Amino acid sequence: MEQLALGILEKSKIKVIAEGLNGFRIELIEKIGSDDIAQLIEVSDELVKKFGESAKLTKSNITKYFNKDTIPFVARQNNKIIGYIIGVPLEYFRKEAWAHYDVNLGLQNTIYTYAFVVKGNFQKRGGYSKSLKRVYLNWVRKRNYKFITGHTELGIAKNFSSNTETVKIFPEWYNSKVSFEYYRRPIKKEK
Ligand SMILES: CC(C)(COP(=O)(O)OP(=O)(O)OC[C@H]1O[C@@H](n2cnc3c(N)ncnc32)[C@H](O)[C@@H]1OP(=O)(O)O)[C@@H](O)C(=O)NCCC(=O)NCCS
Repeated sequence: MEQLALGILEKSKIKVIAEGLNGFRIELIEKIGSDDIAQLIEVSDELVKKFGESAKLTKSNITKYFNKDTIPFVARQNNKIIGYIIGVPLEYFRKEAWAHYDVNLGLQNTIYTYAFVVKGNFQKRGGYSKSLKRVYLNWVRKRNYKFITGHTELGIAKNFSSNTETVKIFPEWYNSKVSFEYYRRPIKKEK
């Protein structure tokens, strides 16, 4: 059975982007399959800790994040999903008020980082998050986008690169207890 009733494949259609010798792999998800959904939902618990239940992936909202317009990369360790980062062309959010603070809206030169999550026991070690982010940045660079943007807790984005700028501060951002900023990071061209 290739396709389930809901139009969701049984097995994700993926492209392997990077692979290590130790069972670590980064894939681009071209079409999400039901085999990965439960694992992604589990990883999204990390977001719930910070943003509350509304941030949790569910069977019904998963296609909001994994669809033909989004660019989702997942990291797997020994075939289990341990994290994901999702980029989306900024224009996808033209109906959102926040997107209109960005002067590049409509210029098709920006990828917005929709989500970046790594399971707690894989954070800050082994280079898991760093590798996932690096693959994402390279993908964006190769496609000639000029900027990556996103929302992060205030103060985090200044570490991304010296020319990352704060476009707008959001004192309230969903259920987070701290202020968030919308940042813009210029992407250097490939040498
Ligand atoms: C965000 C998260 C994936 C970072 O993972 P981590 O293992 O703690 O990451 P590290 O501190 O080792 O940093 C890894 C890289 O990610 C970058 N980074 C950290 N937080 C980031 C964020 N919110 N957005 C984009 N990049 C981020 C770091 O600057 C670092 O970049 P570098 O490799 O260029 O130095 C992880 O903390 C997490 O899952 N948090 C809960 C979910 C969350 O708050 N996500 C952000 C909003 S969607």
